Amino acid sequence: MLYLKAANLADIEKEYPFVRNMPRDENGMTNPWHGVSRDEFNEALNTMISSSRGENLPMGHVPETFYFLWHDDEIVGQFRIRHYLCDSLREGAGHIGYFIAKPFRGKGYATEGLRLTLQEAMHIIPEDEIYLRVNRDNSASLRVMLKNGGYVHHEDTDKYFVRIRKGEPK
Ligand SMILES: CC(C)(COP(=O)(O)OP(=O)(O)OC[C@H]1O[C@@H](n2cnc3c(N)ncnc32)[C@H](O)[C@@H]1OP(=O)(O)O)[C@@H](O)C(=O)NCCC(=O)NCCS
Repeated sequence: MLYLKAANLADIEKEYPFVRNMPRDENGMTNPWHGVSRDEFNEALNTMISSSRGENLPMGHVPETFYFLWHDDEIVGQFRIRHYLCDSLREGAGHIGYFIAKPFRGKGYATEGLRLTLQEAMHIIPEDEIYLRVNRDNSASLRVMLKNGGYVHHEDTDKYFVRIRKGEPK
């Protein structure tokens, strides 16, 4: 069974290796905790959990919920929802980011994970449209967005800016 679960303390032993092994930055999906030690991860996980509550945010950051995509008892991906737009998100990374671990790519996990994340986002995000951004050379991610009802709102030399209208049937 495929499901999303917000970052939580009970799953720490599975969350830890997943986050440690996620690259620091792949196609703009960043991970400040790449390579952390198990001890450091306690604080990292607390940061993720408090971020979803809007607590202890770095200056200028909006609340962000970190979800893991689980297939049965295994984590295959991470999805993030930034709760609302600020100027930098509106012009930049938008509301949602995602990552699927390499061994699990090409099996439809991102497509299904984004569908599940959009269901969550509908209850969190106040704007009428969900904003996403993707590098022009990341065809797989663009495809994932388009399959979830996205359309290219505008583009620049190296990015597509995609939006998904809330309430569109998926
Ligand atoms: C991009 C990413 C999320 C895709 O995850 P995934 O689980 O492999 O994606 P899916 O299997 O759900 O779907 C990929 C789709 O792209 C297509 N695709 C894959 N490689 C492609 C390519 N080079 N060109 C065009 N389409 C491609 C697949 O065929 C599939 O479409 P289909 O179902 O119509 O056949 C994953 O590669 C990843 O985590 N990359 C690193 C982080 C990242 O790029 N995040 C997104 C930032 S915007």
